[in-house]
Amino acid sequence: MADEPLVLGIETSCDETGVGIVRGTTLLADAVASSVDEHARFGGVVPEVASRAHLEAMVPTIDRALKEAGVGAKDLDGIAVTAGPGLAGALLVGVSAAKTYAYALGKPLYGVNHLASHICVDQLEHGPLPEPTMALLVSGGHSSLLLSSDITSDVRPMGATIDDAAGEAFDKIARVLNLGFPGGPVIDRYAREGDPAAIAFPRGLTGPRDPAYDFSFSGLKTAVARWIEARRAAGEEVPVRDVAASFQEAVVDVLTRKAVRACKDEGVDHLMIGGGVAANSRLRVLAQERCEKAGIRLRVPRPKLCTDNGAMVAALGAEMVARGRAASSWDLSADSSLPVTDPHVPGRDPGHDHDHVHEAGGENLYS
Ligand code: KG4
Ligand code: ZN
Repeated sequence: MADEPLVLGIETSCDETGVGIVRGTTLLADAVASSVDEHARFGGVVPEVASRAHLEAMVPTIDRALKEAGVGAKDLDGIAVTAGPGLAGALLVGVSAAKTYAYALGKPLYGVNHLASHICVDQLEHGPLPEPTMALLVSGGHSSLLLSSDITSDVRPMGATIDDAAGEAFDKIARVLNLGFPGGPVIDRYAREGDPAAIAFPRGLTGPRDPAYDFSFSGLKTAVARWIEARRAAGEEVPVRDVAASFQEAVVDVLTRKAVRACKDEGVDHLMIGGGVAANSRLRVLAQERCEKAGIRLRVPRPKLCTDNGAMVAALGAEMVARGRAASSWDLSADSSLPVTDPHVPGRDPGHDHDHVHEAGGENLYS
């Protein structure tokens, strides 16, 4: 529908420069430039390298997204940007770019939360989120169970990892197995040819006295690393496919078990899974099986929308506009540890700021 908000979203919290354009809950463009290859030889994301790559990729990626969507920058109803959490320097590039474009075009600016964006992106695939929605957010930096009755204003943490994030565990085990970086996709591939029951790795925090919705992957990571070391010390070959499959099974078993339990306990009949690890093929299958058994409707976006992208930021920005949330003020800054409970960063005096820009009629500066 033409009267739905047309929003451009910019994502630079880690190593992907993402620019997405949506109209309401319809995806029009999803342009991503990744610097992942530049980090691979270091075995992890190097913040300074990521910031420079964002700077170089920003304008071409914005232009590519506008072209892909077939819209002019002057037609936009708002510009959304990831304000946090993430790498400070990387976030700053996105926030600066978003401010510049918004100011030059005379458009409202929306600083949004990366984690809430990972949830909201599913609106582009499966339509409006049910309220409330239980969300299992699993990425390289976060593993949380979140209950949201309105993704623009109410995100309640039910539980989170007490040590490593799920994606971090995938990345670390891939490193121990010499499979490269990032670890998730390659472990996923190897695991398809392995036996998930070959090795009984521990399921963290699943004892009767353990917190029901918190996660722990550090013990699992150590157990897998020790198992591999023992094999190598004995001069035996490491069965990479079986290790990958058994490790992956331990992660997704705990994630899905706790997510389904949280839904049941809270009487929520929808589970959404988001974040890079939601691209995992085994997680998707097991979640579907367990949700079906429990009478819960599962929503997982397609893999490309699970890993970091700009469309998710645009999706949350469009929801902010649709719900009449306050725009951010021009003093919006990046917050590397923005809490998950803040879906957006309205700033101090948004109304006044934006009136001023509209009067200035910046629309001619970029068209
Ligand atoms: O959401 P994301 O793209 O960036 C963060 O916000 O962290 O998530 C990246 C994480 C990485 O740890 C990566 O290894 C993991 O998601 N990942 C996967 C898969 N694809 C990406 N983990 C398991 N299986 C996958 N197929
Ligand atoms: Zn992410």
